[in-house]
Amino acid sequence: MRIVLLGPPGAGKGTQAKRLAARHGLAHIATGDLFRRNVQEETELGTIARSYMDRGDLVPDDVTVAMVVRGLELAPRGYLLDGFPRNMAQAEALESELETTGRPLTAVLALLLPEEVAVKRIAGRRTCRSCQRPYNVELEPTAVPDTCDACGGPLVQRADDAVDVVRRRLEVYRESTEPLLDFYDRRGLLRVVDAAGTEDQVFELASRALGHPVGDAEERPALR
Ligand code: AP5
Repeated sequence: MRIVLLGPPGAGKGTQAKRLAARHGLAHIATGDLFRRNVQEETELGTIARSYMDRGDLVPDDVTVAMVVRGLELAPRGYLLDGFPRNMAQAEALESELETTGRPLTAVLALLLPEEVAVKRIAGRRTCRSCQRPYNVELEPTAVPDTCDACGGPLVQRADDAVDVVRRRLEVYRESTEPLLDFYDRRGLLRVVDAAGTEDQVFELASRALGHPVGDAEERPALR
């Protein structure tokens, strides 16, 4: 399986990608997480990325594409791309990279929901500083306040979750990323998922869209 996850900020791409990747034994390649890790570790890439991320703008394509291509090389058993591609230039670069390997995408899942639902989710979002897992303090509090249920790391609010930056990220999504829905629809890859429901409901819909309803989990071997 070689899957792209599309959707606006707050759609639940990271949340669903982690679950789908675990279920199917896929690598989860999340450009936002990779950039945040580089920012945290104060690498050269992190310094470049930070200035764009703090404004809600896209990091330049050359930097982003090179980072993703390195990630694909480390994922021979399949992957979920979360947050990439995000504009036409990135989509075309990915397509030509995959043509050279003879391993094209198998599906593009678009997680779509009303903007006000996405904004509400982002307002309550906290992310684990250690494992990057997202939580929501309003909708699904953790067992211990401000502590990751999975690894015990501290929960922090993302710098780009400030209201004015979120507004800009939504604008960038509408202008640059939304046209990819049509791009992938024309290639017969697009599967639209209603992402407004609970995490479990969305997981069920996403799994169905991939042809593997949740009830089948135990009967089926992990896909390669
Ligand atoms: P990135 O990290 O990719 O952010 P995003 O696309 O804006 O998406 P989010 O992480 O905000 O949301 P999500 O859909 O993953 O939702 P989540 O699962 O967290 O990118 C950040 C920045 O990096 C960009 O602005 C850009 O600067 C740069 N960048 C990244 N990729 C790039 C690229 N390709 N090119 C250039 N620049 C790039 O869920 C959100 C919240 O809702 C959480 O609190 C979660 O717990 C909760 N939640 C999830 N699902 C549900 C549900 N069903 N019900 C209730 N709550 C839910």
